[in-house]
Amino acid sequence: TGPFTVALDGPAASGKGTIGRALAATFGFEYLDTGLLYRAVGARMNEGMDPVEAAETLEAGVLDDPALRTSEAGQAASKAAALPAVRDALRDFQTAFSRRLGGAVLDGRDIGTVICPQAEVKIFVTASAEARATRRYRELAARDPEISYETVLADIEARDERDMNRSDAPLRQAEGALRLDTTEMSIDDAVAAATRAVAERL
Ligand code: C5P
Repeated sequence: TGPFTVALDGPAASGKGTIGRALAATFGFEYLDTGLLYRAVGARMNEGMDPVEAAETLEAGVLDDPALRTSEAGQAASKAAALPAVRDALRDFQTAFSRRLGGAVLDGRDIGTVICPQAEVKIFVTASAEARATRRYRELAARDPEISYETVLADIEARDERDMNRSDAPLRQAEGALRLDTTEMSIDDAVAAATRAVAERL
C-alpha cells in the first residue's frame, strides 16, 4: 500500500490521542503525536534555549520523555508554537512522516489545514472546555493529588485561546473534516466513528 494519511486535529484533551492510537493499532498505521514536537521545543525554551534553535536541532529520541506530558510543557509548547519559524522548522519531519508507506496517523492542531491538507481522512475532535478539563483532571490527579480542577480548566482555556487566535496555523476545523464532538459521546463511540471514516476510504 502507498501513503495513506489520517489528519486528526482538535484542542487539548479532546480525545484525539486516544482515537489516533486506536486507529493506528486497528489499521497498522504509524502514529505521530505532533504536540510532543512542540512540547520538546517548549521544554528547551524553558531551560533557556532559543526556541527556533531548539526546533531546528530536535531529534526524535527526545519525544519519549514523560516530562513532556506536564501542563508546564504544554503551556511552553503553545507559546513556542505561535512562532512561525518554530512551525517551519518542524514541518519537514511531519510531512515526511505523513507519507510513510503503509499509512500514518498524525494528531495535532494544523494537520488537516497546513501539514497534510491532502490527507485521505481528516477528523476534527472537540468537546466543551469543561468536559476536557474533567478528563485531564482525572488523568493528572492520579499522579498528583495536589492538582485542582480549576487549575486544569484555566490551563486548557489559556491554551485554547492561544492556539485558536495565533496568526500562523490557528486551530481550525479543516475543510472536509469529519467533526466528532466528544462532550456527550463516549470514547468508544468516538473511536468507532473514526474507524468507520477510515474504513470507508481505504
Ligand atoms: O497536543 P498537545 O496538547 O500535546 O500540544 C501542545 C501544544 O503544542 C498545543 O497547545 C499547541 O500550541 C501546539 N501544537 C501545535 N500544532 C500541532 C500540535 C501541537 O501548535 N500540530
